[in-house]
Amino acid sequence: MLATQNPTQTKAWAALEAHFAKVKEVTLQQLFAQDAARAPKYTLQWEDFLVDYSKNNWDETTRNLLLQLAEECDLKASIEKYFTGDKINATEGRAVLHTALRSAEKEILVDGQNVIPEIEEVKAKIKAFSQEIISGKRKGYTGKPFTDVVNIGIGGSDLGPVMVSEALKFYKNHLNIHFISNVDGDHVHEVIKHLNPETTLFVIVSKTFTTQETLSNALTVKKWFLKHAKEADVAKHFVAVSTNLKKIDEFGIAPENVFPMWDWVGGRFSLWSAVGLTIALSVGYEHFAALLLGAQKMDEHFRTAPFKENLPVLLALLSVWYTNFYGAETEAIIPYTQYLHRFPAYLQQAIMESNGKYIDRGGQRVNYQTSAIVWGEPGTNAQHAFFQLIHQGTKRIPADFIGFKHSLYGDQDHQDKLMANFLAQTEALMEGKTPEQVRAEGVAEHLVPFKVFEGNKPTTTLLIDKLTPESLGKLIALYEHKIFVQGVLWNIYSYDQWGVELGKQLAGTILKDFSAAQPAKHDSSTSQLIERVKSE
Ligand code: F6P
Repeated sequence: MLATQNPTQTKAWAALEAHFAKVKEVTLQQLFAQDAARAPKYTLQWEDFLVDYSKNNWDETTRNLLLQLAEECDLKASIEKYFTGDKINATEGRAVLHTALRSAEKEILVDGQNVIPEIEEVKAKIKAFSQEIISGKRKGYTGKPFTDVVNIGIGGSDLGPVMVSEALKFYKNHLNIHFISNVDGDHVHEVIKHLNPETTLFVIVSKTFTTQETLSNALTVKKWFLKHAKEADVAKHFVAVSTNLKKIDEFGIAPENVFPMWDWVGGRFSLWSAVGLTIALSVGYEHFAALLLGAQKMDEHFRTAPFKENLPVLLALLSVWYTNFYGAETEAIIPYTQYLHRFPAYLQQAIMESNGKYIDRGGQRVNYQTSAIVWGEPGTNAQHAFFQLIHQGTKRIPADFIGFKHSLYGDQDHQDKLMANFLAQTEALMEGKTPEQVRAEGVAEHLVPFKVFEGNKPTTTLLIDKLTPESLGKLIALYEHKIFVQGVLWNIYSYDQWGVELGKQLAGTILKDFSAAQPAKHDSSTSQLIERVKSE
């Protein structure tokens, strides 16, 4: 169990409040003007990552006080509990061990049981299965090799696989990969209309195997498949990833086609488990293993580096500083690579489903803010969409800029333009443009206010050598651990998600109402809308 500590009652918090009152008006431009050596003091080089967090509104005192806050909130001991299988997901009575899935350790105990051998067994199964599908050794019901793979899942059973498959497209093989997630029937029908049942493999991914969306989609797909093939052919074309072996059996999937997972892997942290089967199918097991290795390296860094040189810790502390002291409501994630176009969506679930909580670990309502709203899109597209608001809007939006020094196809002309934009934006956001500079450009006086940029907009730059499976693994794990640190500091349980249950329950009631003679009682707005949906 994690300790319970209201962060606002620590000494560090009081000191941070006093410090904030003194420094809140200090701008980034001033911080840089005061210290010519600021950049290297706030930059970390770790492996192939260079993280420059100097363009943020903090100084040495802020950083030290935030580090003190981490100490007072028992972060060190909490990290050990996280890695060693303590049941830190207390409201569900579970350990949180996605790190075990990529660990090099020989023994990690859950309820006195070493989980490493089962993890290795499942990995061997993923490896063998993916190799047989990719090589064409395993064939469909008419003897043809597979050409298409459809991942059916939602939330963590979709977002991780889809984000990584997109991110690693450069490394992918000949298999066409599709994803069906939404219960919207148009989604499933749009995907299957182009598929050949003889050469399509369906991977049904659901930790619980009770999720309405996934079961509905899987049943629709099975019905479509059985229009072409026989029940006995299902075994060749359907595999499942789940903890719920009973439900899988009821669905008609053969035990040898089941890839198990465990209740100590949270859905939104599960891409490292058999939930990543579609990733292994898409890019091959070696690349999947490299992804895991990258995450393992970040785990090691997080677990052992002193907090002042610890990337997930520093990024989490910065985020707490903006959220709880500056009152920032949102954080933007701007990857400067098209490959990471689903990364912000993936992080939305990882971060907001984890830390979007108002009840603390003591069961009390928090008296401070928790998770920021996370959003973003790849640059440079984002520049032509919402950057106006970041530059000249009224909100403070700390942004992570994620870029890669080398492109994958090696088109240097494009890469130079991309990187020039990547660097120019963080410079522009920080420096802004003064009225004097605008006037010096000969701008008419009445237009000067519109063309001035205040600057002082915080950004953190993550410059990574190259987008590879390993560097992607490091990047994902970096954010996973940032989430953990923030949850510890905010005194909340990051690994449950009770907030998604009410909507599911009510959807069940309304679904019954559609065919009930006597619908359940609702408020007048909902009743009116139900009537409208039901009407001819
Ligand atoms: O509704 C939220 C959620 O429980 C997520 O946490 C999870 O990733 C998703 O649904 C899918 O759940 P499952 O893998 O059990 O189908």
